[in-house]
This record gives sequence, structure tokens and C-alpha cells, in this order.
Amino acid sequence: MKLPSSSATDLHKKNMRHMISMKDFTTQEMDDMMALMALLKQARKDNAIPPLFKNKSVGMIFEAGSTRTRVSFEVAATLLGGHGLFLSPRDIHLGAKESIDDTARVLSRMCDIVMARTNDPDTVDALCRMSTVPVINGLDTRFHPTQMLADLFTIKEHMPEGKKLSDLTLAFMGDATDVCRSLLLTCTKYGMNFKQIGPKKYHMEEEWLKMADEFCKETGANYEITEDLSAIESCDVVYGDSFYWVTQLDEKEERLKAFMPDYVITEALMQRAKPGAMLLHCLPANDKEEVTREALEGNYSVAFDEAENRLTAQMAILVYFTHKYTKKPDEALIKHHETEINNFLEKL
Ligand code: CP
Repeated sequence: MKLPSSSATDLHKKNMRHMISMKDFTTQEMDDMMALMALLKQARKDNAIPPLFKNKSVGMIFEAGSTRTRVSFEVAATLLGGHGLFLSPRDIHLGAKESIDDTARVLSRMCDIVMARTNDPDTVDALCRMSTVPVINGLDTRFHPTQMLADLFTIKEHMPEGKKLSDLTLAFMGDATDVCRSLLLTCTKYGMNFKQIGPKKYHMEEEWLKMADEFCKETGANYEITEDLSAIESCDVVYGDSFYWVTQLDEKEERLKAFMPDYVITEALMQRAKPGAMLLHCLPANDKEEVTREALEGNYSVAFDEAENRLTAQMAILVYFTHKYTKKPDEALIKHHETEINNFLEKL
């Protein structure tokens, strides 16, 4: 018996997009995603979210731990009428007993979209190569695009009346992490100015700066990579992230020595930024290291709004990347199949 490989979703979708980095999207596309976020956020506020992901599933591969990304994708799928499957390497064969390619092929036949947080960027690239459904990068060692969408949206929500994102300057404090790199590229692509303020040893690599140079030429944005704390004085947004990642624990002491106390986000540091400057942090935060509890709880801090907007972003991402492939179920056809199946079952 030969049946088509998928009924509810079309395999090998036309013009299918993956989401590996925000730099791959135009300003208009970023604006569209944020407009969708605003609509979905209002629908959630009204307790009236339309079932735009009904009967759909997002396969969520997590090679590394997560609170926000995991919870936000799973809750977003549920709120939109669908389902999220948590798939850790302990639960599936990923790369050990089964190749990434075959994993992608199988997930594509059962899920409508795949989200992956991987330790190795090659894994997410391999998933994209073989997947016939959209793949969303839930953070690799290069980029964190879903965080970027939540961040831009949060800044937009809190920026002063009459300002545009492209009027603002964001200062990232500390190491050239995946979030720092993503912010450099997302900000300059969008037309926002960017600064990384931290010790020279941990400055952004040349390869990413070259990419940002191209974006700056297109949008008129600029960036500055500096050790000089006075660079914060012209900044509208101050952004924090951990001084080391879980894979860098062996460097922890050396890093803390390099970053502390100068590059810690404190209330005093926030006072040095532009009047009305806001504080973002991708979280999780260590309030004994990169940011003080007082700063995190300050009235300029929007870090927890930012965390909640991860959910707003994931709702928009699930809808944005799958809506073109959604077929409205044909009620008459459902009835036909129900009758056929019931007739068969009655004979058992
Ligand atoms: N910011 C962020 O990605 O948080 P999680 O690691 O908890 O997902």
C-alpha cells in the first residue's frame, strides 16, 4: 500500500524559510514578525488567542539546558492550539544511534516545524539541509535569533514616544557571546547603533565585524567595540549577559577577574547611561557577577518583560513560519473518512 508521505503538511514546501540568524531577514521581515507579535500579545491579553497552530506540532531538540526557550516554545504551541515535543539527546537518537540527516527527515514527516538548541552549529545546519519543515535556531554557539526578536520588540515597547529603533544605541556589557554577536548583527542590520564594552581580550571577532560593516553601509548604523566605560554615556539600552557559559567553567576565575568589577551592571553604571536608558538581560542572570540585584530590580530594568516576550516571539515564530502551509481541514472530507473508518470498525 503506497500512500502520500504526508497529508496535513506538504513536504518540500515552496519558498520555505529557516531561522538561523536574524541577519538573514530584511528590516521589513523583522517588522512583520514584530507586528505579528503585537497582534498575538494583544490576543493573549484578551484571553482570545486564535488557534493558528491547531493540530500542529513543534519538535523541540534541546542538547543544552533552557528555561525560557523551552517553556516559551511549548506554551506558545499550546496557546495556539498545537503541541510542543521536548526532545533531548536522552530521549531521541540524535547523532548517536541515528544521523542528524535521518533525524531531520523523520521529524519533518511528523512535525510541522523544528526548533533546535544545539552545542554544535553543524547540527542545526544539517537539520536545515535535510528538513522539509522550517527549522528554528534556539541558540547555537553563533546566534540566538529568537532572543533577538524578543529583545527588539521589548525595546520598542519601552522606548520613548516618538523614537524609532534606528534612533537608539545599545551597549552590550562584557564578552562577545552568541547574544552579543547576534545583537551586533541584528542592530546594525536594523539600523540601530551598537557598542560592545568589555576587556580587549573578549572583544568581537573580526569575521563578525566585517559582516556588520556591510550592514552599516546599508543602514547608516555604526558600532564601537571598546574597553572604555565612558562609551555607555551615549547609550539608550544597556544589555547584560553571563560572563561565561557552562562550557567555559574552566575559564571562570580568569574571566571574572577580567570583567569584575569594571564591567558589572550596577545602579551607578545605569546612571552613567543616557537619561531614561533601559536595562535588558537575556537571563539567566547571576546577580553576584555580571549584574547586581539592585540593577536588575531597578525601575529602568525590563529584563522580565523581555523574558515574557520570549513567549510573544515564539507564538509569532510558530505562526509566521508555518501559516503558508496550513490547509483548512475540509469538514465534508473529515465526515467521509469518519464514516469509512466507523464502517470498517463495526465489522471488526
Ligand atoms: N535567554 C535564554 O535563552 O534563556 P534559556 O537559556 O533559559 O532558554
